[in-house]
Amino acid sequence: MGFDTIIANGQIVTATDTYSADIAISAGKIDAVGQNLPRQNAGRVLDAAGKYVFPGGIDVHTHLDMPFGGTTSADDFETGTRAAAFGGTTTLIDFAIQYKGQSLRMAFDTWMKKASEKAVGDYAFHCIITELGETQLKEMNALVREGVTSFKLFMAYPGVFMLDDASIFKALQTTAKNGGLVCMHAENGSAIDVIVQQALAEGKKAPKYHALTRPTTAEAEATARAIALAEMAGAPVYIVHLSCNDALEKVREARDRGLPVYAETCPQYLYLSIDNFDVPGFEGAKYVFTPPLREKWHQEKLWNGLKRDHLQVVSTDHCPFCFKEQKELGKDDFTKIPNGGPGIEHRMSLIYSGGVAQGRFSVNRFVELVSTTPAKLFGLYPRKGTIAVGSDADLVVFDRNRKHTISAKTHHMRVDYSMFEGIEVTGMPDVVLSRGQVLVEGDKFLGRAGQGQFVKRSTYLRVNN
Ligand code: URP
Ligand code: ZN
Ligand code: ZN
Repeated sequence: MGFDTIIANGQIVTATDTYSADIAISAGKIDAVGQNLPRQNAGRVLDAAGKYVFPGGIDVHTHLDMPFGGTTSADDFETGTRAAAFGGTTTLIDFAIQYKGQSLRMAFDTWMKKASEKAVGDYAFHCIITELGETQLKEMNALVREGVTSFKLFMAYPGVFMLDDASIFKALQTTAKNGGLVCMHAENGSAIDVIVQQALAEGKKAPKYHALTRPTTAEAEATARAIALAEMAGAPVYIVHLSCNDALEKVREARDRGLPVYAETCPQYLYLSIDNFDVPGFEGAKYVFTPPLREKWHQEKLWNGLKRDHLQVVSTDHCPFCFKEQKELGKDDFTKIPNGGPGIEHRMSLIYSGGVAQGRFSVNRFVELVSTTPAKLFGLYPRKGTIAVGSDADLVVFDRNRKHTISAKTHHMRVDYSMFEGIEVTGMPDVVLSRGQVLVEGDKFLGRAGQGQFVKRSTYLRVNN
């Protein structure tokens, strides 16, 4: 009996090591890693000579099939996980939303239904909590036992998603005990709402006012408050979609004090800026998401934060809405533009290209940011996030030299524009495997809807602080 598959002669890259070896796969798991593994009787030998082999990418922040702003995000679990696979992402953690009056269980069940027959790659859920009474506090413990070990809370969107500080504090006290992790959308929603109403009253309704009414100080204040509440509760906290240097400084200071505070940023904050709103007509709506795009100088601060471990993860916050018909809901009023942008497909190439190819950090740090640390913080490690015997064979054969120009004409996301249109990246996946099955080979999709599995996650693992 031979191995199912051998990936031969690749340069294996983990968060700590780079070395040449073969990887053998049996029954969806990595069975052996070594020199000259026996090829006879192997079901298939994939030649990876001259290529990197990475653990599959893990995107811990996506919104597939999500109702928002009077419409629903354009990618469902089939099109979204398929596009993710083309980009080298084999696992994602999406958000199951508890709407007011609902139990957390209802949120989990609803999102399981959306995903289970459609997902191509593996998936897990965070639970968004929008109402937190005694019942839901107990339910948090039940969900943690069932593998939903993280919760997103909002300090923004008053009346829709926002929780008050008392509820946030109780949730943090609960995760301090049950081992879960609170993911915080940190923006001062109450202050922002005042600024938004004032802008509308002055007739400022174009897309760029979405950005101009959400100052960096509102993000920094909420980030500091989230950290203070977590410190009082004795809990870790993870700041989602951090967009600016002001908030980054709050995370850095907390980490310098040794607190278990973590943060992610997203490719849009590293590549785009408020200058993207300088486009004709309503085109700026393509860049309406929250937190908004910032002045260009923040980009290099964020890249530096990734390099220095002031930021630990790159996710996408993939929340696609078509320009036609969806973004257009806000043609006359920026507050009606559904918030979110498409990014699930290009995270790995954008971060490899800007991070490694442009010399900002090592290829090992790249793997840590897009796969290993996400796996550790969110209870997927060592099943995912590394290349080791016994881990799932989620693997990416990556051509570090292949160049590609990102375009809506060629992408696989179900959305009619790209935020990164025209940007050339260096480094693209050649072959992508999920639990040993080839999902993507070159430009061919070989996966099937429903083959993705729900991953029951363990509780958060404290890393690097
Ligand atoms: O604009 C965004 N980010 N939409 C998705 C919801 C969120 O806050 O992450
Ligand atoms: Zn958010
Ligand atoms: Zn989001």
